[in-house]
Amino acid sequence: MASVDVIIQSIRETGRNAAGRPQEACSPALAKAPWEFDGVLQYGPGSSMGDVIPTGSPMQGALPEEYRTAPVDELHERIRAAKATLGDRVVILGHFYQRDEIVQHADFLGDSFQLANAAQTVPNAEAIVFCGVHFMAETADVLAREGQAVILPNLAAGCSMADMADIDSVEACWAQLEALYGTEPDADGRVPIVPVTYMNSSAALKAFCGRHGGIVCTSSNAETVLEWAFERGQRVLFFPDQHLGRNTAKKMGVELSRMPMWNPRKPLGGSSGDELLDAKVVLWHGFCSVHKRFTVEQVEQARAEHPGVRVIVHPECPMPVVDAADESGSTDYIRRAIEAATEPTTFAIGTEINMVNRLAEQHPEHTIFCLDPVVCPCSTMYRIHPGYLAWVLEELVAGRVVNRIEVPESEKADARIALERMLAAKPKPAGV
Ligand code: 13P
Ligand code: SF4
Repeated sequence: MASVDVIIQSIRETGRNAAGRPQEACSPALAKAPWEFDGVLQYGPGSSMGDVIPTGSPMQGALPEEYRTAPVDELHERIRAAKATLGDRVVILGHFYQRDEIVQHADFLGDSFQLANAAQTVPNAEAIVFCGVHFMAETADVLAREGQAVILPNLAAGCSMADMADIDSVEACWAQLEALYGTEPDADGRVPIVPVTYMNSSAALKAFCGRHGGIVCTSSNAETVLEWAFERGQRVLFFPDQHLGRNTAKKMGVELSRMPMWNPRKPLGGSSGDELLDAKVVLWHGFCSVHKRFTVEQVEQARAEHPGVRVIVHPECPMPVVDAADESGSTDYIRRAIEAATEPTTFAIGTEINMVNRLAEQHPEHTIFCLDPVVCPCSTMYRIHPGYLAWVLEELVAGRVVNRIEVPESEKADARIALERMLAAKPKPAGV
């Protein structure tokens, strides 16, 4: 199967994908080069119109012309040459959602939990080039050895979900919840509330969790982390992804009626004092626009068209979609589930298209397709193109560090506490 970029170019030219079948992309602008959006404050082509980027979000400056005009094969050559020159001085981490054009250069490919671990296993590298999104690079900077530079090849690679919770709104929420619950532990020593932030959040929020007896989770260890939090607290404030919080807590037996939503734009988050007093998990009003595209109708259509299909979705999908699927799990869970299937199987997958198409390519013994028929990559992950990777690497060869992500010292120590708790909370062995 062709890379997502090749598919998008083919759709733009012919209305058909690279296999000749009619297909649509969620935005014609996806066919443009990512540098056409440099210097513009937006998540990028294909992002949901409902995602409003906060003012002050990092913007990428103009990529030097030689990287914009070089043919992609030349860029690949230059990336390989720069890597060879730098040797062990540099390590490239790539998230599963990156373009194939980037993944081929990654030293480690993984989900956000695995990449956070990987960042700690390369103390000899002077630079960690993180091909992922901003919160992942921040996490690597918190966990990296003193003096290591973490580089995000395109500074505009943020995450709209992570931006849905900011430190001021979370502090304001916390003050209201403390006023309601008090701060005294119960007879079992459990505090009234423990903050849990999803990895997809700023370092400032991870530091908040570190300061307040809380923890970070990823989609692969969310259940272990909630168990950890319930051992220490009567309830949890979970931000920013309502869907991961709801899907995980529901799987653990928490009733939906005990998961009120906190909308930071409403007084008391839009819930009543009684609802909050009865809560087990207070869910922040955040979501991922990529995973919100998956629907129950798509699951039903996959079942109608492919009897026996195995439907696996990411837990950032809305609850009815997770309920309609056969299984849900992190990106690495999905990868392992497919790898573990011994019989030729048809899989319908509810996660980002770059990863789904790569799995289809790697497993010709199975039929693997994305539940969403429209090609819609994560708009921010997609902003990392080989041109940016070649640029940051060649700058390193020249002795210059560009696009460095540095978490302020004032946040680092507390964020590390919450992240180390997370790294100790191993994902549960999956039954795949
Ligand atoms: P994983 O933790 O599964 O890698 O997911 C990261 C992410 O951003 C999903 O949208
Ligand atoms: Fe953020 Fe969603 Fe993209 Fe993941 S897929 S980085 S949650 S916008």
